[in-house]
Amino acid sequence: MLALGLQGSPRKKGNSDILLATFMQELAQLGIETQTIDVCRRHIEPCKELTVCEKKGICPIDDDMSREIYALLRKADIVVAASPIFFYNVTAQLKALIDRCQTLWSRKYMLKLKDPGHAIRRGYMLSVGATSGKQLFDGLNLTAKYFFDGISARFAGSLTYRRIEARGQIQDQPDLHADVARAVRELTKDLIGRRRVIFACRENACRSQMAAAFARLYGGHRLDVACAGSEPAAQVNPLMVEVMQEKGVDMGFCTTQSLETAIAGQRPEIIITMGCGEQCPFVPGAERRDWDLADPAGQSIEVMRQTRDDIESMVKTFIDTLP
Ligand SMILES: Cc1cc2nc3c(=O)[nH]c(=O)nc-3n(C[C@H](O)[C@H](O)[C@H](O)COP(=O)(O)O)c2cc1C
Repeated sequence: MLALGLQGSPRKKGNSDILLATFMQELAQLGIETQTIDVCRRHIEPCKELTVCEKKGICPIDDDMSREIYALLRKADIVVAASPIFFYNVTAQLKALIDRCQTLWSRKYMLKLKDPGHAIRRGYMLSVGATSGKQLFDGLNLTAKYFFDGISARFAGSLTYRRIEARGQIQDQPDLHADVARAVRELTKDLIGRRRVIFACRENACRSQMAAAFARLYGGHRLDVACAGSEPAAQVNPLMVEVMQEKGVDMGFCTTQSLETAIAGQRPEIIITMGCGEQCPFVPGAERRDWDLADPAGQSIEVMRQTRDDIESMVKTFIDTLP
C-alpha cells in the first residue's frame, strides 16, 4: 500500500512541510510505504486548457505530471496533501497540480472509466494559516473535496491549524503529535490487516496487471494488491489497456515494476504467479499459487479478451474462497 504525500509549500522546513512529515512518519510506522512529492520543486505546468484530456484522457504537456505524478496518484491508496493558506486557498504550485488532475477527472466523468483503486483510495488535507478567521479553511476544503473526487479518492478529512505564521511555529503546537496519531489511526483503520498479495508474470505488462486491477476492484477492502514481473517491460501492453477499457476499467498510467521492487515495498502473504516460471523468486513466508495462463502478448485481440475474462473469473473465485 502506497501513501503519497504532496507538499505544497514553497518554504523549506516550513509549517506544512513539518506537518506533512509528521503525518507521513506516523503512516510509515504502521508499515505503510510512503513517498512525498515536493510540489514546488517539481516541473509542473499549469493547465493550458488544451481540452485534449476531455476527448482522449491524456494531457499532452510533457512534465513531471505525465512522467511520474499521474502514475503515483493512481497507484496510491492514500493521498495526503499539505499547504499553507495563501489568500484563502492552497498555494499556486499545489493548485497547478490539482488543475492538471482534470486529466483524471476526464477519464472518470467524460470517458466513464473506473479507476480500480476508487473503492479504497482516500484523501486527507493538512493546512496552516496565520490568522484565526472562522472561514479560513473553507476555500481549501472545497478545493480538496473536488480534487479528491477527481482522482477517485474519498475525502476523509482535514487537520488544520490557525495562528501559525513563522517558519517552524507548528512545532510549538502542544497537541501536534497526538492530533496526527489520531487522524492517521482513523484514516487507516480499515486498510490495516488486509491480505497482501502480489500478482506476478514475466513482463508485468498484461496478465499480472489485469489480475491486480480486478483484485483491487473487487477485493480492495480485503486485499492490499501489487503486481510485478520477473523481466518487466518498459510499459504496459496497449492491447491489454484497450480490452480492459472495453469493460470500463481504467488502466491509464499503470507502470511496470520488478518483483524485487514489489517485494521490497510490500512483503506479500500470497504470491500468485502466472508464467514467470523459474525466475519467480522464493519469498519466505509467502504462500505461492500458480495460475496456468498463457501469455497473450503478440496474440490477437480475441486472445487478449479471453485472457481478461479468464483472469476476471479467477480473481473473483480467489476472493470468494479467501479464508
Ligand atoms: C502569499 C501569502 C498569502 C497568504 N495568505 C494568507 C491568508 O489568506 N490567510 C492567512 O491566515 N494566512 C495567509 N498567509 C500566511 C501563511 O498561511 C502562514 O504564514 C503559514 O504558516 C505558512 O506556512 P508554511 O511555513 O508551510 O509555508 C499567507 C502567506 C503568504 C506568503
